Amino acid sequence: MLPRRLFFLSAAILCVSAEYTLAPALQAAQDSASANTTATDAPTTDAQNLTDVATIVRTVTLVDQKSGVPANDTPPGLPQAPTMLTVLDGEIMVSAVDVSNSTDAGPRRRAASDYELLFNGTEANDTAIHGTAYLTYTLVSNASYAQGLDECEAFCENTEGCVFLNLYYEFNNELLDFVFPQNSNLRCVLYGDVHTAAEKATQQPSEATNIQHSSGYASALKEPTVPEGYELVFGPISAANNAPGYMGYAFLSKYNPSACAKLCNERGPDASGGACKYFNIWRALVFGLPTTYVCAMYSIPTDVSTALNAGQGPLAVTRSRGYARISYIADGGFEAYSCPDGADFCFAETAPGWNGTSAPGGYFDATIFHYSSYAHTGAGVALLGCAFGSDGQMGTLTATGPLRGLKPGRSYAVQFFYASTYSGADLEKNAFVEVWWNGALAGSVPVGFSPWAYFAVSVVAVGGGNDVLQLKGGGAPAYSFIDDVYLFLL
Ligand SMILES: *[C@@H]1O[C@H](CO)[C@@H](O)[C@H](O)[C@H]1NC(C)=O
Ligand SMILES: *[C@@H]1O[C@H](CO)[C@@H](O)[C@H](O)[C@H]1NC(C)=O
Ligand SMILES: *[C@@H]1O[C@H](CO)[C@@H](O)[C@H](O)[C@H]1NC(C)=O
Ligand SMILES: *[C@@H]1O[C@H](CO)[C@@H](O)[C@H](O)[C@H]1NC(C)=O
Ligand SMILES: *[C@@H]1O[C@H](CO)[C@@H](O)[C@H](O)[C@H]1NC(C)=O
Ligand SMILES: *[C@@H]1O[C@H](CO)[C@@H](O)[C@H](O)[C@H]1NC(C)=O
Ligand SMILES: *[C@@H]1O[C@H](CO)[C@@H](O)[C@H](O)[C@H]1NC(C)=O
Repeated sequence: MLPRRLFFLSAAILCVSAEYTLAPALQAAQDSASANTTATDAPTTDAQNLTDVATIVRTVTLVDQKSGVPANDTPPGLPQAPTMLTVLDGEIMVSAVDVSNSTDAGPRRRAASDYELLFNGTEANDTAIHGTAYLTYTLVSNASYAQGLDECEAFCENTEGCVFLNLYYEFNNELLDFVFPQNSNLRCVLYGDVHTAAEKATQQPSEATNIQHSSGYASALKEPTVPEGYELVFGPISAANNAPGYMGYAFLSKYNPSACAKLCNERGPDASGGACKYFNIWRALVFGLPTTYVCAMYSIPTDVSTALNAGQGPLAVTRSRGYARISYIADGGFEAYSCPDGADFCFAETAPGWNGTSAPGGYFDATIFHYSSYAHTGAGVALLGCAFGSDGQMGTLTATGPLRGLKPGRSYAVQFFYASTYSGADLEKNAFVEVWWNGALAGSVPVGFSPWAYFAVSVVAVGGGNDVLQLKGGGAPAYSFIDDVYLFLL
């Protein structure tokens, strides 16, 4: 971090030029020799919110995501309902999450058709399941219950995400008796979550109709497909993350990691933490019954070590999984670069994953520093502009080592934090940083004085390890620092 005091000073007295009097390399050498900066400049976490567990718990008790067949005139065999957003940051809503391009819409069942009977129906006065993650229904042959069950299992097999079926007769329903072409009163209702007899509705769907033999069969859960651009960090376990960098949460109508990933990708950046880089999806049980599917988003990746929230009171956390967004840049935080003998300050033109080059006649115009006072997070940071202040040339920082795993034709976001305050408002007024992608200018930060700010630009990959990312800028004394560089699939 740049010292906070000096920020305020330079903001207050705009005409005063410099925070620092010497060039970055010389200043750091002088300061680190005279003071123990690592002790006084511990990374601040004041702006990093922890998971707002209380609000999530409160909101879980407010949502109603349970249903059976939505309306009497719903025709059989409709495509399953899309994953819906039922709550976003405390606001109750209903909107579909478009995951049409994702490879998977949620947990799938095993290929083998082994359905387990969870509860039998009763001869009279039975009711249908009223539960979460309703998918669709159809009418199956009522020649015999067994034949209807076979057809219903086959229908479940062919419905993405189906893990449970509720099969029942519905008598005295005109639509089933006379209108729908299947001419059958045996309903097969599919769900994306497993339900129990405790979740049977308390009432018949209407006064005239009469439900009988409402039984429930479950198939084994399959591991959901990992969303594109993410990796599974942990799970499934029965505890949710409680971690810093929390950005907010959503409730989903189904347990759908791809939908949660999409919300994370589309979420606006946090001013201090940047983009969403991690999410935790879990199922909320209330008094043992599935109630909603929580998607909590974070700007700081975390792992199982912070998965400590098993629930409160009647709320239990289940099927909790953590997924981290993959950055295709090696060491975008410049933290792999360290100093000999554990010193707190050093700098170089090359560092793991990065290579700084100067314009002809320039010298150390793009460098990597290990010095926490200059860094946005941690101790590593890159500097554009001559580290010794001895020339005014622009520097170029190139990500070395092929950018592996990029898919040809796909869009990626280059994102980072930059700061151009080092020499003060006047001398930094022409500070600039440009993002070059495969030899072409992809975007540039607003020119001039700026405290740490987030910047992102979208680029299209050629793939095959042939993509090249370069950051250009500086022109001492107009310095720019760069930290926390990420390359994410959009
Ligand atoms: C700086 O402070 C830390 C923590 O107090 C200590 O471990 C370290 O040895 C100190 N370094 C120097 C150079 O004084
Ligand atoms: C899905 O892919 C198509 C074709 O690549 C694209 O036009 C569309 O915008 C994508 N939709 C989403 C939601 O990403
Ligand atoms: C369901 O009914 C069958 C036949 O009456 C019986 O064998 C079976 O144990 C019952 N299963 C459950 C889960 O109630
Ligand atoms: C079914 O419910 C009706 C009306 O509530 C009641 O009259 C009847 O006795 C019930 N039948 C059984 C078998 O419980
Ligand atoms: C099958 O369902 C149709 C339509 O509801 C009904 O007319 C018929 O009686 C049922 N057959 C049996 C064997 O229950
Ligand atoms: C994070 O904390 C800030 C300041 O306390 C607050 O304004 C903001 O709403 C919080 N964000 C979330 C997602 O809770
Ligand atoms: C860094 O760039 C310079 C100039 O293009 C080149 O000579 C050198 O080999 C590069 N170093 C690495 C480690 O890529």
